[in-house]
Amino acid sequence: MKTITVCVNRRLSGQASCAARGSETLAQALENIALSQPDLRIMRLPCMGACEEGPNVKVVGGDLYHGVTLAMLQKILQEMDAM
Ligand code: FES
Repeated sequence: MKTITVCVNRRLSGQASCAARGSETLAQALENIALSQPDLRIMRLPCMGACEEGPNVKVVGGDLYHGVTLAMLQKILQEMDAM
């Protein structure tokens, strides 16, 4: 099972956070992809401690990506497949 974690934390008082920068949309997009890939699991996580660099996405056993956009998801999935 391959696992990708997505920070969906939203910090109070307007502080920088992954959710404020669109990570919930990223998580939903990955979850939609996972519907057709039974060996792929998507986990929504609270803060990864890099809020200023979000949205943050981590391939378990692989890289941590910062500033992730929808356009980057296929590249992340390809790199994960190459692991
Ligand atoms: S809010 Fe995502 S790393 Fe802190």
